[in-house]
Amino acid sequence: MPTTVKVAAGDVTDFPTPALVVNLFQGVTQPAGGTGAVDRALDGAISALIADGEIKGKLGEITMLHTMGRIPAKRVVVAGLGKSGDFDTAAVRRVSGDVARFLRRKGVSEFATIAHGAGIGGLDAGESAQAIAEGTLLGLYKFDTYRSPPQADNGSDPSEGSADKDGISNVTIVERDATNIAALTGGVSVGTLLAESTMLARDLVNHPANVMTPARMAETAREVAEAVGLELDVMDRDRMKAHGMGAFLGVAQGSEEPPKLIVLTYRGDPEHPENNLGLVGKGITFDTGGISLKPAANMEAMKGDMAGGASVIAAMRAIGSLKPRINVTGLIAATENMPGGRAQRPGDVVTAMNGKTIEVINTDAEGRLVLADTMCYARSLGITRMVDVATLTGAMVVTLGKACTGMMGNSAKLAKQLNTAGDRSGERFWELPMLEDYRELIRSDVADMKNSGGRQAGSITAAMLLREFAEDTEWVHLDIAGTSTASSAKGHLVKGATGVPTRTLAQLALNLANGG
Ligand code: BES
Ligand code: MN
Ligand code: ZN
Repeated sequence: MPTTVKVAAGDVTDFPTPALVVNLFQGVTQPAGGTGAVDRALDGAISALIADGEIKGKLGEITMLHTMGRIPAKRVVVAGLGKSGDFDTAAVRRVSGDVARFLRRKGVSEFATIAHGAGIGGLDAGESAQAIAEGTLLGLYKFDTYRSPPQADNGSDPSEGSADKDGISNVTIVERDATNIAALTGGVSVGTLLAESTMLARDLVNHPANVMTPARMAETAREVAEAVGLELDVMDRDRMKAHGMGAFLGVAQGSEEPPKLIVLTYRGDPEHPENNLGLVGKGITFDTGGISLKPAANMEAMKGDMAGGASVIAAMRAIGSLKPRINVTGLIAATENMPGGRAQRPGDVVTAMNGKTIEVINTDAEGRLVLADTMCYARSLGITRMVDVATLTGAMVVTLGKACTGMMGNSAKLAKQLNTAGDRSGERFWELPMLEDYRELIRSDVADMKNSGGRQAGSITAAMLLREFAEDTEWVHLDIAGTSTASSAKGHLVKGATGVPTRTLAQLALNLANGG
């Protein structure tokens, strides 16, 4: 059942609900604000637990009390916010996700919360509400499309508990200051939209590759285009051939599944076509490695090799709904990478749309090949500024793990703009150096470049190849090989697809529309 987040005016001590969430900064002994009011109504039960050292206010700490009729809320949950000096909207997302899953495990069907940090925490009320909506909705996300209904023992994860059969239907942010209600309501609506879009990206990634084919991705793009009013163009193999997309087609030729180059267009500033942003996503719906076949262990994870494309479709949904004053084009390079009888061979030379030739040293370095032609095509559409998103290299997982996304590019300005958008979304980016010295690693004896630079600086050499196709367009590359999936639930993330960087891409479009 989908959860709704809403806002209500009133006093938390008067609000009837199965559970009321208040909070505490680490080191605070006398709670103030909403938590203080609840503490007084409970005859000091919270401050007593603090005095006994049972509540410390650490980030991630959750304590539940039964109110025994002293206030209309049946239970009170005290959520630790961590040190006040470290506090930001990321902490609100973290707390909101953790608390929502905690209460779902307890079998609670709805709960109320104060707006974390909107008072003493110093956050803007709208930002707090947006982070609560994002943290709660994304933290409660489940992908159970392929599970039988839970009456039978179907092997569902026992750690998720059995009390959550119907889940949480609604969450209310309760605010006594009437002047904050409009900001809170606005924040909830943006947060809900961004969370729903992110969940679309997660769904696309979590579906298995026998379902989420290039055609199915195009179908989803069509549904999104119709829902939020975008233009859609889906290019098939023949049209790609006519455009000279030899690099993309080289990858696609090993598969029976028809490739699709999906183009979604949002026109938010039609009078100024040069005011634009291109979002390019890698959409390999399954990466076997091709003839340079991957080992069997964990190969199933390669159903998620279209996570970049999924985040672009999802961000286009958000952008189409939020309607910023900028033109945004989303381009998704969707194909399988299979070792079929027609598959390309190591040593093959392919020619991309801009005429540059690539020696295919390793057919498993396929992402950069499909992106090369898609970036050329974006340029041919007049894109002046672009961000590509790709699960591009295993080396990226080794370098940065899952804490942040690797960023490379040719524009310090656009990189900074991404970091600014990331500060707002809580998704983080770390830039790697694009030094000229790395270019020689992809020098080929027979073509303009080769598609694999060997073991050294694997994420950077992949970006060096992409740079040849960005040419003079302002460009940033995001390697989400690590950050596209999570290994366990924490805050707004759950195990499986994360939907990264959907929210940042949408935020970037909003910021660019407002002048940077
Ligand atoms: N899709 C993979 C990268 C990947 C690996 C993403 C692990 C997520 C988790 C990509 O197509 C790939 O296979 N890259 C190769 C490149 C190499 C052959 C130059 C890699 O990283 O090993
Ligand atoms: Mn590969
Ligand atoms: Zn791949």
